[in-house]
Amino acid sequence: MEAKSVREKEQPKTKETFEPKIVAFMCNWCAYSGADLAGVSRLQSSPNIRIIRTMCSGRVDPAMIMRAFELGADGVLVAGCHFGDCHYIEGNYKTMRRIELLKMVLARLGIDERRLRLEWISASEAEKYARVSFEFTEQIRELGPLELRMN
Ligand code: FES
Repeated sequence: MEAKSVREKEQPKTKETFEPKIVAFMCNWCAYSGADLAGVSRLQSSPNIRIIRTMCSGRVDPAMIMRAFELGADGVLVAGCHFGDCHYIEGNYKTMRRIELLKMVLARLGIDERRLRLEWISASEAEKYARVSFEFTEQIRELGPLELRMN
């Protein structure tokens, strides 16, 4: 028996009850450490974000992002090291190109490309992570729930 996605099990969302579900793929060396520093520094960040740590933003395959949307994410954040700081030399350049292409694919599928956001956040940029987390949550709240037609 196939597992049902979170989206299938949910009650219908209204504008008033909608709480965005956001998946964030964050590179271990910079963005994840920045988010961790935000927590350690007791900075407020959005509770709507669920972080998945990856070794590099370049490790985030577009299929992983599409799967997150399929399983119920209303928005996906990909965050990695600034250019020149990637521990795998050019992983973040690959990420940038992939995200640009994936946004075009999303638009073709009728998914607003603003549901996918790419950010560069260093290990010391806890404030930036906190700001981005709230900004993105509010943006997704304005866009409303993602309604995918699976058939
Ligand atoms: S190691 Fe952080 S983006 Fe590559």
